[in-house]
Amino acid sequence: MFSVDTAASAAYIVAALLFILALAGLSKHETSKAGNSFGIVGMAVALAATITLAVNHDIGTVGLGLLIGATVVGAAIGLWRAKVVEMTGMPELIALLHSFVGLAAVLVGWNGYLHVEHRPYGSAARELAATGMFGIHSAEVFIGVFIGAVTFTGSIVANLKLSARMKSAPLMLPGKNFLNVGALIVFFALTVWFVREPQLWLLIVVTVLALALGWHLVASIGGGDMPVVVSMLNSYSGWAAAASGFLLSNDLLIITGALVGSSGAYLSYIMCKAMNRSFISVIAGGFGIEAGPSDDTDYGEHREITAEGVAELLSGADSVIITPGYGMAVAQAQYGVAELTRKLRERGVNVRFGIHPVAGRLPGHMNVLLAEAKVPYDIVLEMDEINDDFEDTSVVLVIGANDTVNPAAAEDPSSPIAGMPVLTVWEADNVIVFKRSMASGYAGVQNPLFFRQNSAMLFGDAKDRVEDILHAL
Ligand code: TAP
Repeated sequence: MFSVDTAASAAYIVAALLFILALAGLSKHETSKAGNSFGIVGMAVALAATITLAVNHDIGTVGLGLLIGATVVGAAIGLWRAKVVEMTGMPELIALLHSFVGLAAVLVGWNGYLHVEHRPYGSAARELAATGMFGIHSAEVFIGVFIGAVTFTGSIVANLKLSARMKSAPLMLPGKNFLNVGALIVFFALTVWFVREPQLWLLIVVTVLALALGWHLVASIGGGDMPVVVSMLNSYSGWAAAASGFLLSNDLLIITGALVGSSGAYLSYIMCKAMNRSFISVIAGGFGIEAGPSDDTDYGEHREITAEGVAELLSGADSVIITPGYGMAVAQAQYGVAELTRKLRERGVNVRFGIHPVAGRLPGHMNVLLAEAKVPYDIVLEMDEINDDFEDTSVVLVIGANDTVNPAAAEDPSSPIAGMPVLTVWEADNVIVFKRSMASGYAGVQNPLFFRQNSAMLFGDAKDRVEDILHAL
């Protein structure tokens, strides 16, 4: 017979299918908008089903008031943040959202404990004991709290690092690998203990341990590896949600959590491959990465150039490659860059763009900005497609990029970014670097490119300097 519970289960299956379609859609540019719409509809269905289910289970007026209040406040904050967030602030917002998932998992776990283990003679506990599921429940509580707490503090550190409120250099505590592995061993031992004797102090200890571990794991990872960390935390938040799903016997949370968990893990794996990083090393908090020597190398003097000088160089060039980075996004220089591209192409110059996989602050950041400014797709090339062409190029314009064009990654094995593939811009005849100062990039590493014979610095805000060049042309 039809009941609200069966209708809700059916709605959950529909929502789960919509989430799968959303993921499929988001994997390609052309279908990403449809993917987003599937996700929105899926979430609306899931919310409606959950609220109906709660009301049907008689949560009382106070419960209903709290539920509606939390939904309205959450939706209002979500709408406001999504409206005001800058494209460059997206990763830190995502990191913050992951921290909420982690916190929610911790609270769900604690709630489960207070409801069952803390009241061994209550009806919920007796019901679980009768079906032999008491131990499973305790394990779910313990593991859920652990994953949630690691995600919570890990995401807060990621947010602080991405928003530059915390140094991006890796924290190098003595014996850091030992600390991480030790914490995991203690966690396994405590889990066994808790399942046998679910005592409050054990739950308190694992919460504190996991909060500290999450903080340490992400603090130990250097700025250059942060993109992988963000997608890894995405994965952790999925597993935290799945753990909550088991505790709440909510199938949708389990499915959604598993989808987010596994897709996040896969994305991290792809990113690690693109950046030539060891997957295990990154998820284990920079395991095996030791502090390199502090960089006080004297690279010599840098050379400066004016916008007029650059215009002159460009006038005589037959091929130009532009490699944009985070600074182009900050300066919102993409429109000027698109105009410069158009002008040069009209004069018969072969202009192309070289895009590094982690340029900017989120995957595809540069592609989105260039598409926004209507730069034709066919001249925007990936790093692997363009890296062999720099040696035949007259002028490279490095616009607000730094780590992604750092020769130290290719040439200095002691560099913190050693081994990361970079755009080999230094092979061109002339390299012009647009930035405001000699400051280092996101990874906090000095860039020897600035001091090369064929490099010249064009200081100032990238947007202003591009306009000056347009003027001079
Ligand atoms: P970065 O290494 O971050 O360097 C950006 C440069 O832009 C800075 O050196 C800065 O120098 C300059 N800049 C800032 N504002 C500017 C302005 N208004 N006008 C002109 N220049 C300006 O950039 P990148 O090469 O794009 O590398 C990205 C880094 O971020 C990598 O380390 C990557 O691992 C990390 N990261 C990437 C992602 C993803 S998924 N893409 C996510 C998180 C972190 P001045 O201050 O001197 O101007």
